[in-house]
Amino acid sequence: MEKLLEQIEAYKAEMAALGEADAEAFRIKYLGTKGLVKTVMGEMKHVAVENKKEAGQLLNEFKLFTEARYEELKSKSTNPQGSANGKPTGPGGQSTGNNPDLSLPADPLPLGSRHPISIVKNKIISIFQRLGFAVAEGPEIEDDFHNFTALNLPENHPARDMQDTFYISQNPDWLLRTHTSSVQVREMQKGNLPIRIICPGRVYRNETISARAHCFFHQVEGLYIAENVSFADLKQTLYFFVQEMFGKPASSADREVKVRFRPSYFPFTEPSAEMDISCLICGGEGCSVCKKTGWVEILGCGMVHPNVLDNCGIDSNKYTGFAFGMGIERITMLKYQIKDLRLFSENDARFLKQFTSAV
Ligand code: PHE
Repeated sequence: MEKLLEQIEAYKAEMAALGEADAEAFRIKYLGTKGLVKTVMGEMKHVAVENKKEAGQLLNEFKLFTEARYEELKSKSTNPQGSANGKPTGPGGQSTGNNPDLSLPADPLPLGSRHPISIVKNKIISIFQRLGFAVAEGPEIEDDFHNFTALNLPENHPARDMQDTFYISQNPDWLLRTHTSSVQVREMQKGNLPIRIICPGRVYRNETISARAHCFFHQVEGLYIAENVSFADLKQTLYFFVQEMFGKPASSADREVKVRFRPSYFPFTEPSAEMDISCLICGGEGCSVCKKTGWVEILGCGMVHPNVLDNCGIDSNKYTGFAFGMGIERITMLKYQIKDLRLFSENDARFLKQFTSAV
């Protein structure tokens, strides 16, 4: 113990006398892998058992002392004049002199966050990826064929009015896609069957901006084409999606969210349906979100119309398929109980930073 004490004191004196030593040379001599601090630490094994605790403390103090001295030299060499009060200061203003307060927390780094639409989009993608769906993308500026004609909406078809379209003035054949069904057409044209894809992306419609509508929004559409695909497959796929998206953890007894299908009309599917889920806010009792019905609509779906398959070069006698499409904004509003769609595009940091830890 005595030898140890003596050695430590000697080294401390040596360090104090060093003056403007080169910080790097100091680090190698004292703190490096073969440095003196390590050597003194090695003396621990010669210390008698009853003294080990005291010796340990001593050595630790010595190490901290040496590290502080190194920090001091380092800051002197990068800032030769020192700071205004003559003492070099570290981040947060704490002194890096002989007694730095190592318990002071570091300056906080503000965390960024993902946009809620991206969070929900990624969640939807990961749910369908687990069912074997691949992600497909396509252009936002589309031609009439991919957005309408191939989807069984020939020119002058009244159903084109269902989606108010932005046309591009330079070319009457070009438009901003009104749905990502256009990506499905592109994939069908490639002819690599079976097809099992989801198409996330931004879409545009000429609608007046309000709490419930916007001139652009985001969709995820899905398409599965193979031999013998049935409406039962569609129902099971969407049922799985809803439980994963909105259901409680698997351990919970009342995990299930109810779904129902209502007959509907889309030119590109036959039969067509819209799917509702039991209201997440009131659990089906009736509230303002579900307009007292207990149900909220979340997507459109159906069996791909044979004309669509034929238009894309797929043999409709051999293959069948299902398709569905949902708005990401709508799913996000239900998931996080957001009441106004405009919040998604206003970039108000007070709104956006609430999603920092959301997964
Ligand atoms: N494309 C439809 C829309 O944007 C949604 C949909 C997709 C409906 C696939 C049925 C089948 O409204």
